[in-house]
Amino acid sequence: MKILMVCLGNICRSPLAEGILKQKSEGLSWVIESAGTGAYHVGEAPDPRSIAVGRKHGIDISGQRAQQFKARHFDEFDRIYVMDSSNYQNVMKLASGEDDRSKVEILMNESRPNRNEAVPDPYWGDDGFENVYQMIDEACNSILKKFS
Ligand code: 4NP
Repeated sequence: MKILMVCLGNICRSPLAEGILKQKSEGLSWVIESAGTGAYHVGEAPDPRSIAVGRKHGIDISGQRAQQFKARHFDEFDRIYVMDSSNYQNVMKLASGEDDRSKVEILMNESRPNRNEAVPDPYWGDDGFENVYQMIDEACNSILKKFS
């Protein structure tokens, strides 16, 4: 499986999703990356609060660097998971056909089907990071079961 995790800035939610799924899929030769629909933080390391919550759970995401989501990612990945409906709309705008569109799914639908639940953007608050971690961890358990 080649899986791309997408949020807005690629510094809070999707870097955690990349780190968590990489750890869970160790030994499976999956390819996992993350990207943001916005370009604001391209080249930057993850937010220190995401690095801290990852570290607390034994995952090191400090080496990641933010990249922007591009149309070419549709060719490079089998599944593209977005954190919320705004990410979903922005990714879909770059899709060029049904094949591209069928790769895109709201992450939490993997563990909480058909609800289109968002992983809330924790950037502007200070206490959302543990909740973000737990939600992503839950969805990644379902992804692992589904595709391994
Ligand atoms: P993320 O969080 O999409 O989970 O990486 C955000 C990071 C930065 C901004 C917004 C959300 N920002 O507006 O700079």
